[in-house]
Amino acid sequence: MLLKIKAFLFFHTSNIKLFTTFGIMHAEKYILITGGMGFIGSHTAIELIQSGYTPIIVDDLRNSSSIVLAGIKEITGVLPLFIQTACQDEVALDAVFKQYDIEGVIHFAADKAVGESVQNPLKYYSNNIESLLSLLRVMEGNSVYNLVFSSSCTVYGMPENEIVTEKDTSTNYASPYGHSKMIGEEILQGLSKRKAEWKITLLRYFNPIGAHPLGHIGELPIGVPNNLVPYLMQVANGEREFLSVFGNDYATPDGTCVRDYLHVCDLAEVHVLALKNIGSNASTNCDVFNVGTGTGTSVLELITIFKDELKVDLPYKVTERRPGDCAAMVAGVEKIGKELNWEAKYTVKDALIHAWNWEQKRNKL
Ligand code: UFG
Repeated sequence: MLLKIKAFLFFHTSNIKLFTTFGIMHAEKYILITGGMGFIGSHTAIELIQSGYTPIIVDDLRNSSSIVLAGIKEITGVLPLFIQTACQDEVALDAVFKQYDIEGVIHFAADKAVGESVQNPLKYYSNNIESLLSLLRVMEGNSVYNLVFSSSCTVYGMPENEIVTEKDTSTNYASPYGHSKMIGEEILQGLSKRKAEWKITLLRYFNPIGAHPLGHIGELPIGVPNNLVPYLMQVANGEREFLSVFGNDYATPDGTCVRDYLHVCDLAEVHVLALKNIGSNASTNCDVFNVGTGTGTSVLELITIFKDELKVDLPYKVTERRPGDCAAMVAGVEKIGKELNWEAKYTVKDALIHAWNWEQKRNKL
């Protein structure tokens, strides 16, 4: 353990030198991003740097790659501090809090494959809940109480109405992954009720897609992608034969499922806003926001947008429904609009163009 800590402290020291070299910022306070090498975490690191914050990334790289660091540096001119550890390693995590003056945490680190969670529920309950509890213990031990938590629209289960608002949570979880997010939210709500010093914001993401417009970072799926857009990209680039459209007999305008697809950079921006506004709601110290566009797009519509814009061949077949999919789910965005004064800037078209741009680069990595 001592060796491990020494190794990452050395890594830090060399990174601190880089900060000085680039001279972009010398902030004394830091924002810790757990799971910061992942898709949403890495885009959030960029947004934080560009907003004047100094992020420290903690990630065990089980579902990500450190090549992301080069992309972040390419875009921002800053090589962020990175410590390779799991959140469950409380000794390592505590050492980070002891070395750096951390003022807030964004907790992304979690397993997120819905299908795998159905096959292996214990893995999801263990990893996602244990990492959260470890983090909370270390934060409390170091008197750091500002937390933004990555939640998901999955807490709405199989909603009756297409548009869901923050009050519509359900116990009808489609997967252990979804349940683990709900348990995480409940722990944070319970904690904040008993301990007024905690200031927590739960962000319920809808369907994040796209990539950074400059094309230096994007999604890096490991193995066969589970989600629509990364799978579509691999079909379009010839890596996979065809895209399966999971069912066309839903009660939606064209029969395929409707989702609220949100550009990952828009989502990243919300994390910075959430940090800036943390604790600003006088009626609760554990606030919650849907993060989406408020507009639904069906699977067939998304395919059409991609083909029309990119003029790339995209073979697809309609197949069976995928178990656990709801017909339609779109974010109610009134609360985030009113209270954070935020709305999405990018369209689905923008997100697909950026994802395709990234796909060309990803292929050459
Ligand atoms: N789909 C296909 N073919 C594919 C993949 C997906 O037709 O190869 C369809 C799905 O049936 C769904 C839509 O594309 O209608 C979007 O599916 P994704 O897997 O991309 O996203 P989901 O809406 O299923 O999942 C998202 C998040 C999860 C979260 C879940 C909650 O990715 O983290 O919403 O519903 F848990």
